[in-house]
Amino acid sequence: MSTPSQSKEVLDISVRPMSDADLMEARRIFRVAFGTFIGVPNPEDFRADREYVFTRWHADPGAALVAEVNGKLAGSNFATNWGSFGFFGPLTVRPEFWDRHIAQGLLGPTMDLFAKWGVREAGLFTFAHSPKHIGLYQKFGFWPRFLTAVMSKRVNVRKASSVRYSAQGEEDRDGALSACRKLTDSIYEGFDVTSEIRAVKSQSLGETLLLWGGESLEAFAVCHCGEATEAGRDTCFIKFAAVQPGPGADRAFERLLDECEALAAERGLGRLEAGVNLGRSEAYRQMLQRGFRTDFQGVAMHRPDSPAYNRPGVFVLDDWR
Ligand SMILES: CC(C)(COP(=O)(O)OP(=O)(O)OC[C@H]1O[C@@H](n2cnc3c(N)ncnc32)[C@H](O)[C@@H]1OP(=O)(O)O)[C@@H](O)C(=O)NCCC(=O)NCCS
Repeated sequence: MSTPSQSKEVLDISVRPMSDADLMEARRIFRVAFGTFIGVPNPEDFRADREYVFTRWHADPGAALVAEVNGKLAGSNFATNWGSFGFFGPLTVRPEFWDRHIAQGLLGPTMDLFAKWGVREAGLFTFAHSPKHIGLYQKFGFWPRFLTAVMSKRVNVRKASSVRYSAQGEEDRDGALSACRKLTDSIYEGFDVTSEIRAVKSQSLGETLLLWGGESLEAFAVCHCGEATEAGRDTCFIKFAAVQPGPGADRAFERLLDECEALAAERGLGRLEAGVNLGRSEAYRQMLQRGFRTDFQGVAMHRPDSPAYNRPGVFVLDDWR
């Protein structure tokens, strides 16, 4: 009988940026890894209607890493640059290589990317019930804080009145990007999610909705719509939404959710999905009042152990998946 130390020889792991030739295998590993961990009957088909790997790589190829063992793809990780804030995931490793330090091999260079980008704080979303996941990320300075709920509701058709980013001319689009940047900066200094708006436009993943109040932007939502996006079948997924802080933010949040539902209806999608950190207590409560129910929840882990923008009074939707 072999002892654990005999059966686990040290692997020769190399980490490099992901290339387009890796995408199919990276997606297969992504599905098998999550499908195996969650315990679905056919892991290879896990979330087959949703896309993360191709879309994130196209959005920022330099932010995607793969790990190889003997020239064979063993895992991957994606980092996201939101200005002064960064997060990573999905991080996945082939199940036959679990517990062989491949995730840690990917996380070191991921932390280097955050350092290169100069992010002030970083985060991730993970399984709150898994000691392995929490322990692994703690090694890299991330600490569990509030839960993040991934919620959904059925869509009721509503009339839309927001401006569609994709319908604007180039000059107006530049103005809209600056306004979005200014809005998120007022929530958390240096916060900038315009890369998501650009990715949705350039890859036709959905739409960005802009809610103007006179000259200033009151709120915006970056939505993925349908299959082959992060939303999946019959779903409009609010990848990111934010409301200008201050009096009336709750009302603008409600109007923004109306607009998201109207977009879903317009696209023939029956389900609206969005994530909210429970530290954003008013936003979470408003989602519940509106009829959203939690489909599943995970824990937000932060580096350093401080709230960043997951705090009361902040009307932001996102989940760092
Ligand atoms: C989660 C996942 C990426 C980890 O990859 P991995 O290559 O197996 O992880 P590593 O071997 O690098 O690290 C395992 C570490 O977990 C930690 N860990 C494991 N069990 C633990 C426990 N009970 N308590 C505390 N820490 C624990 C240890 O720090 C361990 O490292 P060590 O052996 O050096 O002490 C992989 O299991 C996977 O693909 N899972 C399915 C998809 C997924 O869940 N992705 C992450 C979503 S956030």
